[in-house]
Amino acid sequence: MKKEQQIQIFESVFEGLEKQKQKKDADGITHQINADRYTSSERLGQEKEVIFKHFPIVTGPATQLQKAGDYFLHDLADVPIIVMRGKDDKLRAFLNMCRHRGVRLLEEKEGKVKRNIVCPYHAWSYNTEGCLQFVFHPQGFSKVEEATHSLIELDCWVRMGMVFVVPNPDLKGKINIDSWLSEVYAITEGFEFGDFYPFHKTEGKLDCNWKLLVDGGLEGYHFKIAHSKTIGPYFLDNMSINTENKLHSCIIFPKRAMKKMKEEAPDEWNFRKAANILVHIFPNTVILIEPDHIMVVSFCPIDEKTTAYTSFMLLPKEPVTEKEKEYWTLNANIFWNAIKEDNEMAILQQKSFNGYSKTHLTVGSYEKLLLQFERLVDEALKGKELQA
Ligand code: FES
Ligand SMILES: [Fe+2]
Repeated sequence: MKKEQQIQIFESVFEGLEKQKQKKDADGITHQINADRYTSSERLGQEKEVIFKHFPIVTGPATQLQKAGDYFLHDLADVPIIVMRGKDDKLRAFLNMCRHRGVRLLEEKEGKVKRNIVCPYHAWSYNTEGCLQFVFHPQGFSKVEEATHSLIELDCWVRMGMVFVVPNPDLKGKINIDSWLSEVYAITEGFEFGDFYPFHKTEGKLDCNWKLLVDGGLEGYHFKIAHSKTIGPYFLDNMSINTENKLHSCIIFPKRAMKKMKEEAPDEWNFRKAANILVHIFPNTVILIEPDHIMVVSFCPIDEKTTAYTSFMLLPKEPVTEKEKEYWTLNANIFWNAIKEDNEMAILQQKSFNGYSKTHLTVGSYEKLLLQFERLVDEALKGKELQA
């Protein structure tokens, strides 16, 4: 983020504090959204089809795949995906499906392929670049060759230490990842992130709709209440600054320490220390930029009431000593203690809606980003092309 924008944000926090005192920090406009957007299985089916197959989604940390043959699987977009580093050092994504009669090729969630991926059914084999290498009794298969029967490749890019994949092979070559992520770059440019070393990978299931989990990150109105026992006291109450984005939201949560910085010269202001910066990468990933690392959490729907999450930290370098590992584990625990509180709220919302969803919910001026996200989902379902 450009220094001028950082200074502007500091200034809007100082202004916001004054406005808060006069109770003039919001326009007070409220909106309604229907609760059944979190319970409809038909809608969830459309979301899976339209949103989770057509946009680049984060599948895991790139640095986990250091050497040729290293791979991880991703199945959460209902498409079986292998992400693998080839002998040529390039990361690629393929459908995890044999080109003969479709057997799933790799079952272990992560690992290393020594030379070739060998299908367990009739031993057709593919190298680490996805190229067909061997057909058992090939005289039985005319016109089956590398050019026509290699693994089906998906669009795959590494950006900011994360592997983005578009799960629909028909869209290969159609998306420009750098224009898609341009808003994210505008936020992260100028920040130092180092090696994006992955640490503390976790995953699990939560009993709520995936959108509720995204919603929870898009407002700071709940901090003082829902996080009163964890991170709440470290942040300014109900104070967050949104940058003007069309697609990927950015919300900045200033810490209490920022108040003191008012006395310092703007050139001395250390933005990453003074605030946590949350970026929602549409559709389903939230990254939290902390002073010395990044937390990444992605939410994929299992059904309308259940979501799978995956998460990892991206560190500036590999922790080597026990002390370093302890430091990062402590950081992870602080984060998860707060996130658990967010998740619990989403689960309580879902519990209500599972019992009764023929109602509308009220979204106020402090929750505009949440509304924008929900609208983008609706626009995508209506077939509108989304662009940053
Ligand atoms: S299904 Fe893979 S070799 Fe036959
Ligand atoms: Fe929260």
